[in-house]
Amino acid sequence: MKLVVNGKSFEVAVPTDTPLLWVLREEVGLTGTKFGCGKALCGACTVHVDGQPRRSCVTAVGDVADRPITTIEGLATEAVLHPVQAAWIEENVPQCGYCQAGQIMSAVALLRAKPRPSDAEIDDAMSANLCRCGTYPRIRRAVHRAAALLNGAGPEGATPAAPATPAAPATPVTPVTPATPAMGAKP
Ligand code: FES
Repeated sequence: MKLVVNGKSFEVAVPTDTPLLWVLREEVGLTGTKFGCGKALCGACTVHVDGQPRRSCVTAVGDVADRPITTIEGLATEAVLHPVQAAWIEENVPQCGYCQAGQIMSAVALLRAKPRPSDAEIDDAMSANLCRCGTYPRIRRAVHRAAALLNGAGPEGATPAAPATPAAPATPVTPVTPATPAMGAKP
């Protein structure tokens, strides 16, 4: 069967009920997508199918043949990170990192649907992606930062740099007058 992953076609010979996750990792060789729970409960295996987030551990590969699949490896170009990845780095989000590919894929889908999500919308959309390291506050900040990047602004809350103040003209230095020796003082 033919799979279209990150814009490239792959011919794979596997039973149609094989989980997409294992086909991506073992047949296509893309190991950025992680196995977490195997029951669609933790989100570590999140990829996009037709632009929508899907848990690849419970998606039969036969259901997604010929449909566009995007994995974490497909977000960046060779030269430029996806804004969500850039925001993740700027906010230092990962701790152990195991859940983060899934977190980023969910965040990309969220920002596509809601370009400027509120805290509540972020928490709601990301709540099914579990992080055992507890990076949730940094994830929230990074989603806001990514939203700002995607909307062409600087990070929210950032203060624009003040225009440089021209330096004051230097005050000429008054030549030091040698002290006049006091009357009667010895040189
Ligand atoms: Fe360790 Fe999320 S960073 S599980």
